[in-house]
Amino acid sequence: MKSQLTLDQKYDFYERSVQNAEGEISFMHDEYKRIYGHRPFIFREDFCGTGAMSCEWVKQDKNCEAYGVDLDPEPIKMGIVRHFSKLDKSAQKRVHYLQQNVMNAKTPPADVVCAFNFSYFIFKSRKEMVKYFKAVRKSLKKQGVFFLDIFAGPESQKLVTDVRKLKNLTYYWECQHFNPFTHDCTFAIHFRDGKGKKHNNVFTYHWRFWTMPEIRDILIEAGFSKTVVYWEGDDDKGNGNGVFTPAEDAENCDAWVSYIAALT
Ligand SMILES: C[S@@+](CC[C@H](N)C(=O)[O-])C[C@H]1O[C@@H](n2cnc3c(N)ncnc32)[C@H](O)[C@@H]1O
Repeated sequence: MKSQLTLDQKYDFYERSVQNAEGEISFMHDEYKRIYGHRPFIFREDFCGTGAMSCEWVKQDKNCEAYGVDLDPEPIKMGIVRHFSKLDKSAQKRVHYLQQNVMNAKTPPADVVCAFNFSYFIFKSRKEMVKYFKAVRKSLKKQGVFFLDIFAGPESQKLVTDVRKLKNLTYYWECQHFNPFTHDCTFAIHFRDGKGKKHNNVFTYHWRFWTMPEIRDILIEAGFSKTVVYWEGDDDKGNGNGVFTPAEDAENCDAWVSYIAALT
């Protein structure tokens, strides 16, 4: 059955549940500066959806420019309503939505490229992943960084639903299928709205569940010189504290999300 959510609700619920555009843009800015000693200006957001991050990027500086790349016209259309339209005229000139395939998108050389919310898991063979990472490597300047996020931990491969309560919204992340031989998997997002109505399978993803060592190896194979993993610290209750720092080992907790930076 078709979801009864409006398009604005669909993307509002999604962004409130799984995105933190402001925090992630500031993390990438700061890390780029720490690595290369100067600020980044050109940003490419692969699998951009509504382009929330691109619209956030151009607020950092009047010389910041962003290119959001997505195949689907629906989130792009909603991003223009939800984010682009709220920027001032000068910032709008510096945001470019491209309805293209990330595999062969044409963008000016970027300082930073990102692929977030595990969107690159769409590529299921090693050959495709190498091809995609090579395309990203080529799209970057001499001093460039490709940021990706990744998730895992023993719980994340079980057929369970993670539930998180937000203000007037409940978010469900369900693992519906996991093939241990191929790592083919299906994940779905459901929501319960403020009136108590449940909306199932608002987003579904058919992915390969890639592991951290595979992704790091493929990044190097694709020509990146080095990868850095950022692991989240704990708060006093043992939950994530939202602060990610470079690490080379950690406790394999039940479910975790971390960032990888691949340097040109
Ligand atoms: C999980 S959403 C990610 C949205 C947003 N980047 C985020 O972090 O939440 C994945 C997006 O990737 C897009 N997509 C899938 N394959 C693509 C491809 N080959 N090229 C460009 N966009 C693609 C889909 O249309 C969808 O909007």
